[in-house]
Parts: sequence; structure tokens; C-alpha cells
Amino acid sequence: MHYDSISIEEEYYDLKIRLMLIGDSNVGKTSIIKRYCNNQFSPSYISTVGIDFETKYLRLNGKIINLQIWDTAGQERYKVLAKNYYKNSDGFIIVYDITDKKSFNNVANWITQIKDSASENVKCVLLGNKCDLEELRQVDINQGKDLANNYQLKFYETSAQKGNNIQKVFTDLVKGFLNDDNFVNDSERSSISTEQRNLRRARNQKKKCC
Ligand code: GTP
Repeated sequence: MHYDSISIEEEYYDLKIRLMLIGDSNVGKTSIIKRYCNNQFSPSYISTVGIDFETKYLRLNGKIINLQIWDTAGQERYKVLAKNYYKNSDGFIIVYDITDKKSFNNVANWITQIKDSASENVKCVLLGNKCDLEELRQVDINQGKDLANNYQLKFYETSAQKGNNIQKVFTDLVKGFLNDDNFVNDSERSSISTEQRNLRRARNQKKKCC
């Protein structure tokens, strides 16, 4: 299977996927996105205000994917704002912090929010983040696995600081969409047809040659 990132922004893509990270404040949602999109990590904490997003283009199975990753604020006062964006999301990454039992106990509430406000058949995964902080652990890995099983979600322990499993979470999710014929066949998700894109590329190549 061919996989690599595209450094130059691709104007034309085969598939657009919108993912949203949700979970309590301070669990590491922004850090996970920064690690995945820029391979960076900052130990300082700046709480997300409202909602934000990053775009990443990647190539998987010969397709160019425009991945739009929405970062929500965990703070209670922004919940209503974020819920307005749930309907447009194709998938959710629900995050708790393995050193914060309360954030784990709140996962059920976040899942209820998805059920109440998101479209049917969205793809969701559960992450226990900050797995580098073993000495501060409050949530056993098996508790995370059991909770994920209850909701039939894929489960990963991640570390935005060290990078553990971050790439895998996103790659697995994108593969899930690519293997879903109902999703891939929705032509509105593609900027232009593959034929048009190939034509444009060929023209650009020609221009560069002259
Ligand atoms: P809100 O914007 O308030 O919802 O927070 P958030 O969930 O986006 O958390 P954020 O990414 O801002 O991270 C909160 C704090 O945890 C920051 O100080 C990060 O540096 C730290 N942090 C995030 N991920 C990890 C991790 O995997 N390991 C460790 N050790 N610290 C982390």
C-alpha cells in the first residue's frame, strides 16, 4: 500500500474527509493535530477558543485526500458552538487523557453529543492520550479497551508528545473511508473528476517543459 504526505498543497483531490476532535479540555486535542500535521509538540497549554481547523493533503492507495481536521475547544462554554459543526463531520476522534479519570468518565457524554448532533454512520475512534506519562496514569489501558468495545470503536493509546500511534490513528481512519464504497462514491466530496485532474496535470507538465 502506497502512503506518503504531499508537501505542496494539491488543489485537486479525489476525496475530502472532515474529521473532528472532541473531548474534555486539556486532553491534548490540539497537540495531536499539531503532531500529525506539522510533527511539532509544545509543552505549553493555550486553550482553544471556539473552533479551528487544519488541512492536510495525503496520498493513499493512489488517491489524493484532502483531510480537514477540526479542533474543538473542550471548555463547556464552547460546546454549543462546536455542535453546529458536528453535522458536517464525516468522522470523530474522541480523546481522553490517561492521567485524568474525569476526562475518561466524560467520554460517554461526548458520544451522546455525536449521537444527538452528527449524521448517521459517522466513523469514530477513541484515544487515550498522554501515554508517555505512565507514572501519572489514572486510567488502565484495559478500561480504555473495554469502553471502546462497548461502543464498537477502535481504540488507541497515543502520545502527542512522543508521537506514539498518532500517524496510525489518522491513516487507519482514512483507509476506513477509502474502503467504504458509499463514502467514496459520493462525487460531491471530490473537487473535480480524476480525468479533469489528470488533464490539468498534463497541461501543467507541458508548460514546465517549454
Ligand atoms: P482545549 O483547547 O482546552 O480543549 O485543550 P486540548 O485538548 O486541545 O489540549 P492541548 O493540546 O492544548 O494540550 C493540553 C496540555 O497537555 C498542553 O500543555 C500539552 O503540551 C499537553 N499534552 C498534550 N498531549 C500530550 C501528550 O501526549 N503528552 C504529554 N506529556 N503532554 C501532552
